[in-house]
Amino acid sequence: MTRRWTLRGAQTEYTVAVPPHGRWLELVAWGPHGVSDGPSPVGYEGPVPFLTKGDGAPVEYATETDRPFAGADLVVRTRASFEFQDATATQDRLAVSFADPVNGLRAVLHYRIPAGTDVVERWVELTNEGTEPLRLARAGSAGFCVPTPHGARISYQWGQWAQEFQLDHVDLAHGTFAVGSAQGVPGHLYVPWLAIRDQADDTAVWGVGLAWTGSWQIEAERDTGGLTRIRAGRRLVDGPLELAPGQQLTLPVAAGAYSGGGLDGLARVWHAYQRRLAGERLGPRPVLYNSWEATYFAVDAASQLELARVAAGIGVETFVVDDGWFTGRNDDTAGLGDWTPDPAKFPAGFDAFVGDVRALGLKFGLWVEPECVNPRSRLYAEHPEWVYSVEGRPLTQVRNQYLLDLGRPEVAEFVHETVDRLLRTHDIDYLKWDFNRPRTEPGRPGATGPLDLDGSHVANLYRIFEQLRRDHPHVLIEACAGGGARTDLAMAARADVFWPSDNTGPLDRLAIQWGFLHANAPHLLSSWVTDAPGLFDPRPRSFAFRFVLAMAGVLGVGADIRHWTAEQRDEAARWIALYKEIRDIVMHGTVHLVGGPDQARCAVQYLSPDERTVVVLAWHTGRLDGAGLLPSRPVRLPLRGLASQARYRAGEQQYSGSHLTAVGLPVQWTAAHDAEVVILHRV
Ligand code: DGJ
Repeated sequence: MTRRWTLRGAQTEYTVAVPPHGRWLELVAWGPHGVSDGPSPVGYEGPVPFLTKGDGAPVEYATETDRPFAGADLVVRTRASFEFQDATATQDRLAVSFADPVNGLRAVLHYRIPAGTDVVERWVELTNEGTEPLRLARAGSAGFCVPTPHGARISYQWGQWAQEFQLDHVDLAHGTFAVGSAQGVPGHLYVPWLAIRDQADDTAVWGVGLAWTGSWQIEAERDTGGLTRIRAGRRLVDGPLELAPGQQLTLPVAAGAYSGGGLDGLARVWHAYQRRLAGERLGPRPVLYNSWEATYFAVDAASQLELARVAAGIGVETFVVDDGWFTGRNDDTAGLGDWTPDPAKFPAGFDAFVGDVRALGLKFGLWVEPECVNPRSRLYAEHPEWVYSVEGRPLTQVRNQYLLDLGRPEVAEFVHETVDRLLRTHDIDYLKWDFNRPRTEPGRPGATGPLDLDGSHVANLYRIFEQLRRDHPHVLIEACAGGGARTDLAMAARADVFWPSDNTGPLDRLAIQWGFLHANAPHLLSSWVTDAPGLFDPRPRSFAFRFVLAMAGVLGVGADIRHWTAEQRDEAARWIALYKEIRDIVMHGTVHLVGGPDQARCAVQYLSPDERTVVVLAWHTGRLDGAGLLPSRPVRLPLRGLASQARYRAGEQQYSGSHLTAVGLPVQWTAAHDAEVVILHRV
């Protein structure tokens, strides 16, 4: 029987083998097509003094018996060690089975490369076929091995509320680099995404992402032999997982991506993958208006309709009423849990209000946060036992609210029923699903035995999203968690768009979107034009800058447009019309990230799938005062992916592909002109 398999993606291959001793699966090579045809870049057969063979080997999924010192993926309290059983394989799928002859634990390592992508999905199915319960102190999803002979360079994204997706890099000579979340959501602090490359080579880059919407950890450890091994998986914040005899557990997908085109190329690999995850829901996203920054909690039919009228006039397609529309919700201290429209705010009835919005030609969207509850609410008065709590201990409030224990079937039923009822009762096309606090209390009143609160919350969340998407296929769902605290590959498969940050200040937002687009496709990037100076980042930028920035993904408007002048409304209408022309290319085009938010040149280029149209969105990141007044040459934006012999036309101007690539597209900034959309057509 063969014990070596190669999975092939669009441009990459991933080869694994079971060594003669049969105790684990090893990586042979991971890279461009053909990379496995030669001695393995990660294999190691030499001495391992004071270590074990497994510590030096490129093990795919390691128990601590087999890799006791260099980091294991699976830690079973009574130990585990596997023997190879069998495997099933096709060109894009592989399942390799191992079993522990002592405790009866079976592990099936699954691999899949979705067609047309360069992403290998890996997950593990554990089954306790023994007679005793097994306690798992660590249950990682995968180990990914990357050759880094000259040292590893790791790219990651850190953040905090209003400053998410900050792309940064660290050189790792030896030791471990770790990111994660213990918050029950992916969190603001780090994104479950890493990119790894050798310090001497900027072109070959490997990426790891996790499809898990709870607590997580990703660690990269470079050993003395030049191998960097990345472990990715759940973080067991509730203590060890218990696997009863006969029980099966499927661990979340950890995804590995490869690109020979540097970090920019790796972004395209993730984009293609997420577009596949979106499947048939990858339709054009509507231009939306969201009333949060205009009215905050002071929602009422009259003010919302006034906003909706202006929104319709400038070309907005969907009008979203944010927080503040339901009973008891006049600020953030009360109301969460009581999901019925406040009759005082909608005196003619909520449906009449929705009808009025729709009569303007707009679709209608609504904000919800159904996993949370304020202590000042009817729901909490009726069901105080539904929130996470530890008996005898005070509850922790974050933003004046508690978190419902979604793992309880009756709570999951309530949450599903609440949202389903809203969607059935009112004419709604769009949901913004928010989540504004981490989980703090690791307990469920009255429960005995070990609990997996994190796991059951996430499992029910997925079930609810899937049910709602199935029963209301026309409703788009925007995932939000106080900004961008809930973005991971599992949400990218279940939500249609992400709200990446509450920070809409122009230059701050540019940096946030820059990081975001390294990990996420443009169809997931919700972005609003808001008023100057805004809550954050008072650095002045033009109205145009804000529009061009929001056009880089899914364009929205969040300003108080009641106060916009006629000129501003006209200008907004022109930008929105232009966005509608380029929207398909933004959604489906090949993205190149040019320069960066901390560089003089900064642009996102979208190349249409037929390669005939190039859309360039460019921003001036520097000081505005002297620009255009002093002698200065235009900024040049080097474009990518063009045919060097072809000619490209923008208005009257023509360029060769070679010029645009080698010299770059010129953009001339002045104080009044700090952003631009250039559309080039292949002649
Ligand atoms: C946090 C979100 O990020 C905001 O956009 C807004 O929806 C508020 N919550 C509402 O409370």
